[in-house]
Amino acid sequence: MSAIAELIQKEIESLSTDATRTNVGRITTLADGVARVDGLSKVMFNEMIEFPGDIFGIALNLEEDSVGCVILGDASALKEGDEAQTTGRLLSVPVGKGLLGRVVDAIGRPVDDKGPIDSNENYPVERIAPGIIPRQSVDQPLQSGIMAIDSMIPVGRGQRELIIGDRSTGKTTIAIDTIINQAKINKQGADSGGEDFRPVYSIYVAVGQKNSNVARTIKTLEENGAMEYTTVVTAPAADNPANQYLAPYAGCAMGEWFLQNGQDALIVYDDLSKHAVAYRQISLILKRPSGREAYPGDVFYLHSRLLERSARLNKDSGNGSLTALPIIETQMGDVSGYIPTNVISITDGQIFLETDLFNKGIRPAVSVGLSVSRVGSAAQVKAYKKVAGKVKLQLAQFRELAAFSQFESDLDAATKAQLDRGARIVEMFKQGAFCPVPVEIQTGVMWTMENDFFDSIEVTRITEAVESLKEFLGSSGKDVTDKIRKEGNLTEEIEEELRRAVEDWKRSFA
Ligand SMILES: Nc1ncnc2c1ncn2[C@@H]1O[C@H](COP(=O)(O)OP(=O)(O)O)[C@@H](O)[C@H]1O
Ligand SMILES: [Mg+2]
Repeated sequence: MSAIAELIQKEIESLSTDATRTNVGRITTLADGVARVDGLSKVMFNEMIEFPGDIFGIALNLEEDSVGCVILGDASALKEGDEAQTTGRLLSVPVGKGLLGRVVDAIGRPVDDKGPIDSNENYPVERIAPGIIPRQSVDQPLQSGIMAIDSMIPVGRGQRELIIGDRSTGKTTIAIDTIINQAKINKQGADSGGEDFRPVYSIYVAVGQKNSNVARTIKTLEENGAMEYTTVVTAPAADNPANQYLAPYAGCAMGEWFLQNGQDALIVYDDLSKHAVAYRQISLILKRPSGREAYPGDVFYLHSRLLERSARLNKDSGNGSLTALPIIETQMGDVSGYIPTNVISITDGQIFLETDLFNKGIRPAVSVGLSVSRVGSAAQVKAYKKVAGKVKLQLAQFRELAAFSQFESDLDAATKAQLDRGARIVEMFKQGAFCPVPVEIQTGVMWTMENDFFDSIEVTRITEAVESLKEFLGSSGKDVTDKIRKEGNLTEEIEEELRRAVEDWKRSFA
């Protein structure tokens, strides 16, 4: 942390422990879950305000003669004239490993039926992001288990990669797949007991979703054995906008605990479009002036101060990481809206999903041309990088060629070969939901493609062939894929062994 940032942090912490700052005022107006309070001259931004009946609010608007305060919980129990008191505490949430396997609300209270949260530590929901000095560039992979992503748009620990697309294009599925894959890798790592193995814990923040959707997600995580490594923070659509506004920061604080304690965590914000809408709602009630698309002027800062808190820390700072996968929902593929452009500019790349592809059955519906990972390739496993280096270009060229050669009858041999390869790559990348593939098996499949073994198989049978090869590489070919995983590189020796295994598979498949 830079010296100035550290000073500010200290100042905030000293303020928040100074119990003598209590200050009593009164509610002057109360509407839509927002109270205007006067008499709180010493209030801090984001300070918790206590109302009668154990109801809390947070001070969001500090004006000359009054304070705008959003109520957390049931505002209908309050009335004008009620007392309001500063607490000297910034809003904070419980953190630590006791939150794994739990479902909590925007201020960290359990909403599952597993009893109280086992935690003796709290982190403020808003914190200044790590500065430049303690950070390190991304150099360890965070595998999604999705071939199209791990090969072409690889993500590294500490990276912020946006998942963007219209409604129902598979955004949530990609995020959940990634969480499930971390759980699988964690289990494998725990079994093989490597000393420098670092598990990745996940936090899934659901903002403004239907309760039934969140319930389905939790069920999927449980069925795939991922819940024990995961915390779900939920502020459903039915919740007041204050909770929806807070949930991402609360989740982030829980992720920061891992970051600060030298561990690795992944956080998914599903989604930040709804988060921005909740913030707009609060801002309108607080009578803040509105700007583009009726969002308040500081909506960029809303998301930048959240996403900046994801980082990869260097050795001296404990080596921890917090990777973020924010999700944005677009309208009719329009990425030029206010919120999408903001978040695109804050993140280190985006996975862009297309409705057209999705409807054609090309799932995950990743757009090759519009998706990019600006830092993750530095973290890609060497063996995989070797075999996947060309695939993005091949696929991009294929999409272009396919578009303007569809009416062409006599193609030259080179163009035809490019088209054939492209069509097979498209098939290879098709992957169902919730079945992440380990990177060593992905490497084997990609190697097989790049070494022409699929060329003699009909395009319509490629999906079946790929499934059969994955199965083979995880069973009969396990020796060589284990070696790829342990070595992390494709030495000549391993490559030879892989070739023999693939030849065996090909014979059995034909
Ligand atoms: N790779 C996939 N293969 C098959 N079905 C998928 C795939 N990805 C998503 N789906 C299905 O498509 C639907 C929409 O996916 P979802 O992730 O909820 O979209 P979004 O979050 O973009 O609205 C879900 O029913 C999901 O199961
Ligand atoms: Mg979704």
